[in-house]
Amino acid sequence: MKNAIIKGFMFILFVSLLAACGSGDANSSAEGNNDSGEKKVLKMATSADFPPFESYDTEGNFVGFDIALAQSIADELGYELEIEDMDFDGLIGSLQAKRVDLVLSGMSATDARKENVDFSTEYHRSGEMFISKTDAGIEDLESLEGKIVGVQLGTIQEEGADELASEYGFEVKKTDDVSILIQEMNSNRIDVAYMDKTVALGYMESQGFAGFDDPTSSSPGMAIAFPKGSAIVEEVNAVLAKFEEDGTLQKLKDEWLAEE
Ligand code: ARG
Repeated sequence: MKNAIIKGFMFILFVSLLAACGSGDANSSAEGNNDSGEKKVLKMATSADFPPFESYDTEGNFVGFDIALAQSIADELGYELEIEDMDFDGLIGSLQAKRVDLVLSGMSATDARKENVDFSTEYHRSGEMFISKTDAGIEDLESLEGKIVGVQLGTIQEEGADELASEYGFEVKKTDDVSILIQEMNSNRIDVAYMDKTVALGYMESQGFAGFDDPTSSSPGMAIAFPKGSAIVEEVNAVLAKFEEDGTLQKLKDEWLAEE
């Protein structure tokens, strides 16, 4: 794949050099030349710490439902997809600064976020769960008393945990990265991790954690986020509608997401 891109690029360079020589035009340049069939680039940001939505495989490639969905959308619209990994807490800012065109990161389309970014239609709904080691005996909100609950910075769980903490008497510990939360739990620096259910189920399976559903959860579905006023929201929504109808979305869900 990379090789093909490099070869393609060298070919384009070669052809444009030829063209420049042939015309003898001092102004001609390969720069900004888009007639060569090169694809437009779609810049996506994500926080790749959130399997099965976004993470890395053993070779260091991005994988997951959001990655596959973004790639399918880019293919459908004729874009080259470029993915940048960053802290979840920085995603909204990078959209506001228009450093990226879109964010797929298991991001819940909350009203608060809608003040700063535009969202596509929702593509997945997940509840929320509290997960812990099986021997911790944590099975409901009441048993969180005196415990340390870890959340990822900038998430709806950070906000949710802050709201529940005093009522149920637990302490909230915040980290940038969900995989750090899991490490912290395995080394007993936190007792509980609070996160989206689809992701929690994966960790329960892979790490043997116990978990219970958040009875207070009323979070909105996940959606693709764009800079406010972005011109591509509509075309992306049209593709999502098409994927909903022709079964592409369901196929991606079957491939990546566990049943809830
Ligand atoms: N759904 C939650 C939210 O929108 C958490 C998303 C975290 N995503 C991630 N890639 N770490 O706040």
